[in-house]
Amino acid sequence: MKFHILTLFPEMVLQGLHTSIIGRAAEKGLIGIDAVNIRDYTQERHGRVDDYPYGGGAGMLIQAQPVYDAYQAVAAGGKPRTVYMTPQGTPFTQKMAEELAKEEELVILCGHYEGIDERVLEEIVTDRVSIGDYVLTGGELPAMVLVDAVSRLVPGVLSNESSAETESFYNDLLEYPQYSRPEIWHEKKVPSVLLSGNHRDIAKWRLARSEERTAAVRPDLYAKYRQKQWTIARLSNRKREHIHMMELLRRGNGELLYGKGENVIAYERTGEICLMTAVSPQDGEKMVRFLGELNPRISWFVVCQEFLAKQLGEMFPLRACEPCIQACYTRREPLPVRHGDIRPLGEEALEYLCAHYCQEDSGATQEISLEDSREYLSERVRSGWMFGAYVEGKLAGFIGLHDEGSMGMLYVEETFRGRGLGAALESYLINRLRERDWTPFCQIYQDNSVSLALQEKLGLYLSGPVIRWLEVRDCHLEVCRFQADR
Ligand code: ADE
Repeated sequence: MKFHILTLFPEMVLQGLHTSIIGRAAEKGLIGIDAVNIRDYTQERHGRVDDYPYGGGAGMLIQAQPVYDAYQAVAAGGKPRTVYMTPQGTPFTQKMAEELAKEEELVILCGHYEGIDERVLEEIVTDRVSIGDYVLTGGELPAMVLVDAVSRLVPGVLSNESSAETESFYNDLLEYPQYSRPEIWHEKKVPSVLLSGNHRDIAKWRLARSEERTAAVRPDLYAKYRQKQWTIARLSNRKREHIHMMELLRRGNGELLYGKGENVIAYERTGEICLMTAVSPQDGEKMVRFLGELNPRISWFVVCQEFLAKQLGEMFPLRACEPCIQACYTRREPLPVRHGDIRPLGEEALEYLCAHYCQEDSGATQEISLEDSREYLSERVRSGWMFGAYVEGKLAGFIGLHDEGSMGMLYVEETFRGRGLGAALESYLINRLRERDWTPFCQIYQDNSVSLALQEKLGLYLSGPVIRWLEVRDCHLEVCRFQADR
């Protein structure tokens, strides 16, 4: 992840960011921080960058020209995501940090004085972000806040990969209280459950404390959390059908857009995936209308009922995939992994992944499908959820998690088939998911008898053919992603 910070005070942001964890991440090359002095791009004599606002008013404005030229110098003809730090922006949240962490490059524009000429903002800015309802003297501190919050989500920046996942705001809860040695301090004892070694009890205790704390301090967040929990409970009435929606919400990867009993719309922001289930066609109609009004960006719908697919088809230009069967692993015990060398995949495996993930694509031109698949696979690798099986040190197959949480992309090289490598890869992934207390699931075409047999062999429960993926047609992806999973 590379940050380009456009500012009048580059030394201020560089000093602030080149210390501690973020500084070390920059040293290791996990992130890049480039501070560009807007003043270097002025065409005015004496390095002047500001002038009086038309119409009068207090203070000075930064002029359009030096900002635009500084931007052009870093954008190099492209259109990178460009965040303007301003108290008039959207409030910065952990969700926003998570979303920005997926970008490869970010331009951050810091204002000073009374702001920046609106015309250049209109041309270059993609997001306006505020760090709170108060006014600072400039955008440098807000930019540092944003860089810090985003950088610590970049894989490898925090030493403990899971720590970003248990802390405050993950899944709408504040973090539980923590204790370290000594066991007794000022006559206060560490809660005994934390000394018990029983990880399930510890997790339960922590969740209860998180809930208490959130309810007391942030009733707004707590209400959101409760509604999600309640919706998950309603969806569990038909668990095999709804496991994909339950897990999206449970893992904190999705937002609840609509939740009335078993009528639910959940949304996964990265893949722009909208997951829906409805009780009746009347409910479906209401929900489709609701979506039309809300108008979120959607590339895919995943629906559980045929009537929903039809209703959505009347509103959006869609291409439907065949219905899939959903399989989920609900047992407690880990599965035996009968292959010794399975490991997480890094960027170095990307060529291999692209070559084999794309090979069965059909439909759109090869060029588009390769480009989109590469971007998708690269994002999946960065998520840390792609795993490879190695035979004599060479990659022989892989499996991964899709962005909405299902297991997929399973591939084993022709020469290694029939040796249980596929089963080992899936068992490995199931175990990794179970360690997190997540329910592993996948979606399979009805005619994919090899995959269905594998799911049954591993002990997954199958639903009927219920899951329908619908691609929104005029969007960038022209290849049905599930064709690649066959
Ligand atoms: N610039 C000045 N105040 C700010 C704030 N609260 N958030 C973002 N940028 C700012």
